[in-house]
Amino acid sequence: MPEITLKDDRQFHAPSGKRLVLALEDNGVDILHRCGGHAKCTTCRVQFIRGEPTCMTEAEKERLEARGLLGEVRLSCQILCESDMTIVPINRVSSSDVEDAGPRPADSITPNPVWVDAPASRSRTVHNT
Ligand code: FES
Repeated sequence: MPEITLKDDRQFHAPSGKRLVLALEDNGVDILHRCGGHAKCTTCRVQFIRGEPTCMTEAEKERLEARGLLGEVRLSCQILCESDMTIVPINRVSSSDVEDAGPRPADSITPNPVWVDAPASRSRTVHNT
């Protein structure tokens, strides 16, 4: 099972193939997912310190590009737990003015994923040498 490490050193194991956003939420991280995991809102964004996947869904790429965030952050609703990762969840209920995280994302990635190569990001070039 992949090991997920948070910047505060908290660690947990996630079932292989689980959506990262759900693995975080199910382990007590109050990460936002305001669009319900459809790659629309970007509130589920995380910053990678280690273990950033080298592929991404086309929907994630398009959304991050549109928001000027490509290469900076990743969308946890578009990532499957397939290897060890160290991440920083960015938007949380406890540090926002919203009352809840948003609708629970489905167990499978939505929209139906089309996988493409992820562009080189700061975390991969700096931390994954
Ligand atoms: S983009 Fe909205 S929950 Fe991921």
